[in-house]
Amino acid sequence: MELEGKLAFVTGASRGIGKAIALKLADMGADVIINYYKNKDAAEEVVKEIEAKGRKGYAIQGDFGKKEDIDRVFDEIKEKFGYLDIFISNAVASGREVVGGFAPFLKLRERGTDRIFNITAKGFIWSAQRAVPLMKGRKGKIVAISSTGTKDYMPYYAIHAAAKSALEALVRYLAVEAGPLGINVNTVSGGPIDTEAIQLFPDYEKIKEETAKLTPLGRMGEPEDLAGVVGFLCTEDARWIQGQTIVVDGGLSLVRGKKDL
Ligand SMILES: NC(=O)c1ccc[n+]([C@@H]2O[C@H](COP(=O)([O-])OP(=O)(O)OC[C@H]3O[C@@H](n4cnc5c(N)ncnc54)[C@H](OP(=O)(O)O)[C@@H]3O)[C@@H](O)[C@H]2O)c1
Repeated sequence: MELEGKLAFVTGASRGIGKAIALKLADMGADVIINYYKNKDAAEEVVKEIEAKGRKGYAIQGDFGKKEDIDRVFDEIKEKFGYLDIFISNAVASGREVVGGFAPFLKLRERGTDRIFNITAKGFIWSAQRAVPLMKGRKGKIVAISSTGTKDYMPYYAIHAAAKSALEALVRYLAVEAGPLGINVNTVSGGPIDTEAIQLFPDYEKIKEETAKLTPLGRMGEPEDLAGVVGFLCTEDARWIQGQTIVVDGGLSLVRGKKDL
């Protein structure tokens, strides 16, 4: 229960990796505010699961690709709670939102491209600007979720990869500027994990099969694999880790693309 008495906020936590992170932080003793975009019922189920663990849960709708929504969500957190210990930037454009941005390079269009950048990269800027003042004097922890697609080629993934690369750079800059305020800022970068997001890829079944075959640890990643590392970064044992991108992929990036294997 290392996070007992802490208040966490996780974006995009109605399902997938965000949900696993929210539940992990609750397991570790934190009260958890979750954000969702469209799936209110799913978010309310996550709140129930947090409360079943004996923690407080709270859900707030908001589009993290829109600054006015981000400001409204943080206004609500400020008004209702007045402080924050942990902020996890996890939301990602999904479903029809990515049309035009999740495509072969030569077919990229402005709409989906802007949505992905707005949610992944700019959303982190506007959120962190609001999270930091709420962490004053509280040894705050900020973790952004990235993906190893920043380094490897994956079909249709150019814009996500570029936006995640920007996110990792933003984390390093914030880590330097928020360090003197006693705030840890890091990135957790995951390999392929079986969620709805990855089901969008063409040849999803093939990706799953090949990922499991290639990964040194012998399987595809699960949301809980990332959640455990995020939970650790939110503890005081991780206090000397600052501005880093921690790769969590079962060793896949060590071997992917090596033709002799
Ligand atoms: N899956 C992978 O292989 C993988 C690997 C490495 C890293 N990641 C990263 O892990 C994070 C979570 O991915 P995932 O696979 O769990 O995704 P997912 O299953 O598609 O879930 C996306 C989450 O983001 C929310 N969301 C969508 N648009 C939003 C918006 N405009 N504003 C706020 N929230 C929004 C969704 O809410 P609603 O349900 O309400 O729509 C949902 O909770 C992402 O940052 C992703 O890049 C994923």
